[in-house]
Amino acid sequence: VTAMLRSVSWTFRGLHCSSVPLSARVNSKRADRSCALAEKVAVITGSTKGIGFAIARRLAQDGAHVVVSSRKQQNVDRAVAVLQGEGLSVTGTVCHVGKAEDRERLVATALEHCGGVDFLVCVAGVNPLVGSTLGASEQVWNKILDVNVKAPALLLSKLLPHMENRKGSSVVLVSSMVAYVPVPKLGVYNTSKTALLGLCKSLAVELAPKGIRVNCLVPGIIKTDFIQRTTLHGLRPQLCSLLFRFGEPEECAGIVSFLCSSDASYISGENIVVASYSPKL
Ligand SMILES: NC(=O)c1ccc[n+]([C@@H]2O[C@H](COP(=O)([O-])OP(=O)(O)OC[C@H]3O[C@@H](n4cnc5c(N)ncnc54)[C@H](OP(=O)(O)O)[C@@H]3O)[C@@H](O)[C@H]2O)c1
Repeated sequence: VTAMLRSVSWTFRGLHCSSVPLSARVNSKRADRSCALAEKVAVITGSTKGIGFAIARRLAQDGAHVVVSSRKQQNVDRAVAVLQGEGLSVTGTVCHVGKAEDRERLVATALEHCGGVDFLVCVAGVNPLVGSTLGASEQVWNKILDVNVKAPALLLSKLLPHMENRKGSSVVLVSSMVAYVPVPKLGVYNTSKTALLGLCKSLAVELAPKGIRVNCLVPGIIKTDFIQRTTLHGLRPQLCSLLFRFGEPEECAGIVSFLCSSDASYISGENIVVASYSPKL
């Protein structure tokens, strides 16, 4: 019986379902969710490390075929190798989201390898400045707004023709708690993350007639290289005052899978705080 179950389990893997053995899936409640995204395709920016990588792993565990991406080829290769090594259906390509030709390549890769796209998760974000908002150069403003705010919209505009003919398509943006509670010396970044809350609302209204939902993940302070770089500048006390504790990247992943799934079919335009506490009314 064990051998039989194992062979059925491998058949399921071939259909891009989770690598959880069939017996476990049948017997557990989580089993019902483990194929919640089966046959779906997810494109995720900034997904070779940190929050994006945790989301990529979770969507793939939940049955999706995932296209990971980031600026550096070696990071893409490593992320793809790790996730494929776990039996997950993952491919990848280089995509600096601020570069038009890279966005085109990401779309082409998803279409070539997966034949379409159901979900876009925009995780890539940068913060090159810790300092005064009014002291920021035009170059810094352009970089932060280009990567954090404009790139998700420009990438989605390229993917839209391929998403609107699929049933249950959805987009998840990634903002930050600093959108609600600004941290001193991160003014330009804070502003870009507040803009994403508005982008989520506008796109949700605009894309509703096409059946595409748009929501936004709003993380607190998550233990990644990004936050380590930021706390190097003496901001730890300000960041700590926002929250009860720092989070793990995996704590951001389940909610994104839910937002993509049909369980969230009536949820759009929502900004969801994942931060041990929410400052929202
Ligand atoms: N960590 C936190 O506490 C926290 C809190 C709230 C919001 N966020 C947001 O969450 C997102 C991810 O942050 P993280 O903490 O997971 O960072 P991270 O661990 O430093 O990972 C960043 C990922 O994005 C990629 N990346 C960076 N710039 C990119 C670009 N221009 N185009 C495409 N990919 C790019 C990186 O790979 P390459 O180097 O290969 O490009 C890497 O895969 C960001 O938008 C950040 O603002 C983070």
